[in-house]
Amino acid sequence: MKSLKPKILRFESLPSTNTELARQASEGAGEGLSIVADEQTAGRGRLQRAWSSPRGAGLYFSILLQPTIPPNQWPLVTFMGALAVADALREACAVETDIKWPNDLLSGERKICGILAEAVETPTGRAVVVGIGINLTAEAYPADIAGLATSVAEASGRAPERETLLAALVRALSRWYSLLHEADGAERIVAAWTSRSSYASGKPVQVANGDEVWQGITRGVESDGALRLETATEGIKLVRAGDVSIRATQ
Ligand code: BTN
Repeated sequence: MKSLKPKILRFESLPSTNTELARQASEGAGEGLSIVADEQTAGRGRLQRAWSSPRGAGLYFSILLQPTIPPNQWPLVTFMGALAVADALREACAVETDIKWPNDLLSGERKICGILAEAVETPTGRAVVVGIGINLTAEAYPADIAGLATSVAEASGRAPERETLLAALVRALSRWYSLLHEADGAERIVAAWTSRSSYASGKPVQVANGDEVWQGITRGVESDGALRLETATEGIKLVRAGDVSIRATQ
């Protein structure tokens, strides 16, 4: 059984916890090293976007993982991250979430957490930095995306306790990471992800990836985490990157 021994480094301010952890990983930091910052001055999101990270308004966290699973299953590390955040929000804040492919956490259809996984070369081989940004209060995100974003404070009606949430997150990551390394771990992660995501199957969505936009109905995920999208013109397409949004009309 693979067990994770997280060790947390805390910073008042960093450009990005992912960037700092990737730097330390390239210099030989070990699996489980985690970084938390009170604020990020250059927080990064998926698809080259910025991640707004004002002081004290969010949980800005990154952890270094070196999975010993087949390379084609590495995308499941982000599924595992989403499941861990969902567990932690439930356990520490009584907030229930939905997962939007691949790993956005939603509360009431608004985004409460984003995950950015980045591969990094280390002296002991390839590893992955999993960066997690959880909106604790509405100050975490710009007012002009208030219709699309939410926070733990709004979803729970209580002031969030960052340390309690962080401790629950680290425990949940350790649990799901061990499961990922079990013989049937990949299937169980995909099954758990599917059961927690209203986007997994039967959802009319639009997927944007650069200049390409596809429309279709979701039809589950492959064993490597690719989203199966049934389109009217091309049948089932496998989506491995892109931004999923609900399609207003069928
Ligand atoms: C997304 O676009 O949804 C992913 C957002 C990921 C943000 C987190 S905050 C901690 C870590 N450091 C970063 O610079 N990004 C991630």
